[in-house]
Amino acid sequence: MRTSQPRTIYLSEYRPPAFLVDHVDLRFELFEEGSRVHSTLTMRRNPESTDSQAALELDGDRLTFLERVDLDGRQLTGSEFEDQGDRLVIADVPEQFQLTLVTWLEPQKNTRLEGLYKSSGMFCTQCEAEGFRCITYFPDRPDVMARFRTRVEADRAAYPVLLSNGNDVDRGEIEGGRHFVTWEDPFPKPSYLFALVAGDLVEKKDSFTTMSGRDIDLRMYVEPRNSNKCDHAMASLKRAMRWDEEMYGREYDLDIFMIVAVDDFNMGAMENKGLNIFNSSCVLASSDTATDAAFERIESIVAHEYFHNWSGNRVTCRDWFQLSLKEGFTVFRDSQYSADVGSATVKRIEDATLMRTAQFAEDSGPMAHPVRPDSYMEISNFYTLTIYEKGSEVVRMIRTLLGPDLFRKGSDLYFDRHDGQAVTTDDFVRAMEDASGRDLGQFRRWYEQAGTPQLTIRDEYDAGDQVYRLTIRQSVPDTPGQTNKKPQHIPFGVGLLGSDGRSIPLRLSGDDSNVTERVLELTGESHTFEFQGVTEQPVPSLLRGFSAPVKVDYPWSREQLLFLMNHDPDGFNRWDACQRLAIDVITSLVDAPAETPVDPRLLTAYRILVSDPEQDQALVAKMLHLPSEAYLIELSGEADVQAISRARERVLGELALTLRDDLVACYNRNQQSGPYELTPDAIGNRALCNTALAWLLQANDEEGRLLARKQFAEADNMTEQSGALRALVNSGFEQDREQVLGEFYQQWHEDPQVVEQWFSIQASSPKAGELPKIRSLLEHEAFQWKNPNKVRAVIGAFAGQNLVRFHAEDGSGYRFLAEQICRLDDSNPQIAARLVSPLTRWRKFAPAYRGSMKAALETIRDKKDLSRDVHEVVHKSLAG
Ligand code: BES
Ligand code: ZN
Repeated sequence: MRTSQPRTIYLSEYRPPAFLVDHVDLRFELFEEGSRVHSTLTMRRNPESTDSQAALELDGDRLTFLERVDLDGRQLTGSEFEDQGDRLVIADVPEQFQLTLVTWLEPQKNTRLEGLYKSSGMFCTQCEAEGFRCITYFPDRPDVMARFRTRVEADRAAYPVLLSNGNDVDRGEIEGGRHFVTWEDPFPKPSYLFALVAGDLVEKKDSFTTMSGRDIDLRMYVEPRNSNKCDHAMASLKRAMRWDEEMYGREYDLDIFMIVAVDDFNMGAMENKGLNIFNSSCVLASSDTATDAAFERIESIVAHEYFHNWSGNRVTCRDWFQLSLKEGFTVFRDSQYSADVGSATVKRIEDATLMRTAQFAEDSGPMAHPVRPDSYMEISNFYTLTIYEKGSEVVRMIRTLLGPDLFRKGSDLYFDRHDGQAVTTDDFVRAMEDASGRDLGQFRRWYEQAGTPQLTIRDEYDAGDQVYRLTIRQSVPDTPGQTNKKPQHIPFGVGLLGSDGRSIPLRLSGDDSNVTERVLELTGESHTFEFQGVTEQPVPSLLRGFSAPVKVDYPWSREQLLFLMNHDPDGFNRWDACQRLAIDVITSLVDAPAETPVDPRLLTAYRILVSDPEQDQALVAKMLHLPSEAYLIELSGEADVQAISRARERVLGELALTLRDDLVACYNRNQQSGPYELTPDAIGNRALCNTALAWLLQANDEEGRLLARKQFAEADNMTEQSGALRALVNSGFEQDREQVLGEFYQQWHEDPQVVEQWFSIQASSPKAGELPKIRSLLEHEAFQWKNPNKVRAVIGAFAGQNLVRFHAEDGSGYRFLAEQICRLDDSNPQIAARLVSPLTRWRKFAPAYRGSMKAALETIRDKKDLSRDVHEVVHKSLAG
């Protein structure tokens, strides 16, 4: 049931709230048949409001029943308020007053997982962005900040643990076997940070002493069967707390910090004040059930949500257009953290890959929007790669331009100046300007202009004058609703290499320093930089460390790329050269006759990589990953998915055949003995072994098959077991595939997180994941429609990673996805809307694909009672 027509919200319409809430007193009566919420709001008119006569309007969404309304202790009659479903209006209220509302909810029936709901027997909440209005009528916007006091009442036996934000200040018995706990949060917060949990959970305790010597109680709450999967998250939390003190001077502020794991959760995790709630898959880990990638993801998510305590909670967003203020900044903080505790180069490679593959695609398609959008229909659709990842890159560029010390000064000023406030991205930039004395006026365009800037770079060497000239032009492409864009302020990292592989000093005219790396600042449409005293034609190393989220066009020769791959002192750019070389080779094969050979220089380059034990093995493992199909599609014009995939497979097959002996040697050399360790080196060794296996099995190598079977059977950790499983599943050894899939399920069917991996390995495999198989996975006993992780593991993995099958030429993959989206739209529109994304860029594909993708979108568009979430994505994608 839709309560209102899809409507567009504009940043330009922002007005300060007409009323403020000083205090919220909540009482939750949790029962099996429903829950009653008593809410008493202490309110007053906002002196900053432009409308001093405004009626009181509170937001609501799908509240089952409003039982009563009291104003200053007097019950209002039906004619004194207007219950419009998504709004409660009281025309006549004094300057200040107390309003008490009693609402009845049915959390058991809540499949949208927004507001208050039940997940495997426990009650929990998700209020960001607009879920609090599903709990009670409230001015549900982030610039209304209030102190909350929350009393939770429930059956003692079924729900021994009752949690909310802040400190527990009271507890006791209620007749009928019930009990209560009262929580008080001293920090004013927006309603989106409210949380409640009630369940039969085990408590894991630890503690942390802050830099000023305060002792903090750390607690994790999980279902009893998960009590052995908490150590990693707890250790990560303590590392993150220390890191934020050291790197940003930020200390934790409450006496307790709690983490709860829940199985049914739309997102990864949520930073509710003092009570972070996590998707089980993003917090629970033990080495036998979680892969290295899962351990790393958990560490970064725990850190991310913890870091929000300052970047998001103490200083929050004025409105949802400012979302990147907290998310972009916090992603930047967690990426710095991950770089510090792991391998910085590997982390940068992962971030740049995500940007170039997925964010660049978003930025050049129908859903493109600025880091600070101007409008939206459904805010849940705006938790995008642009807000998160590009937003993080924008903060990183500020740090690059200011340097680490002034950036820290800027962040200190930002936190100090705005503590307890709801602010804008502009306030953030202003703090950086004020602390550094730098003018970031032009830089602000990064927040305002959508689209990925394109750099076209040409160079010339003048042997007579010993001058090397680098000319860089920039342009920002048109995006929906935005044309004729202005140049942006781009930090551009650069180095020059001589033929001996050594770095050449970078002397710009009138400068005789000896630096061999510089960050050039691009501000105009075109710049020419003249480097003096260059005694030979250099090879340029461009956009070092991915210093800005831009596309680079430079006419590299394969010889130059091979040279950079071996000699660039910047690890990131060595990887990048390797990628560009592989891309060049693969794309040249896409339209070439079948007998065209694979450039032997590529094979030799990879042989050197595989055989060199001196190189950082984690970096080698990354370099061996061929550019993904998704990235090759992004780079191509009108993409012919099947042709791109065939060309990529050709190169992969050729590499596997030619390097066979080197791969076996690499596999043996990287075998680990001794206990499982989570160091960057050990992770690199395991990654390399798994890549070697994957390649050998790609070529259906018999020794590879035996090695994989052995690794599968003997592994004592999930990285090795699932690496072997994945390699076998993607091989042509059909019998082995079915056998290990069966054994794996038998072994792990009681562990939901492992079963999710099992689903996703099959669904993302072109060999195991043909459409009938995907349909049968939906019928599997372990598949649950109400659990977003299962939906993502099957449907999301199929449409997002199994590109060959999803883009089947008969359009069956698209029709399948449309069918599942329509089904999910009724139960969980947020999840349904996210699944539309693989269809949205239909214009990017060759005519053979495009038509059926569009038709699939039209089927979704025509569904009855389409949610606002899916409506927005489908309509934007079809428009224009
Ligand atoms: N605040 C978000 C969670 C959220 C997002 C709630 C959208 C409601 C709607 C949280 O801080 C977050 O960003 N989580 C990420 C993981 C993070 C490591 C980037 C997520 O859930 O994917
Ligand atoms: Zn976040």
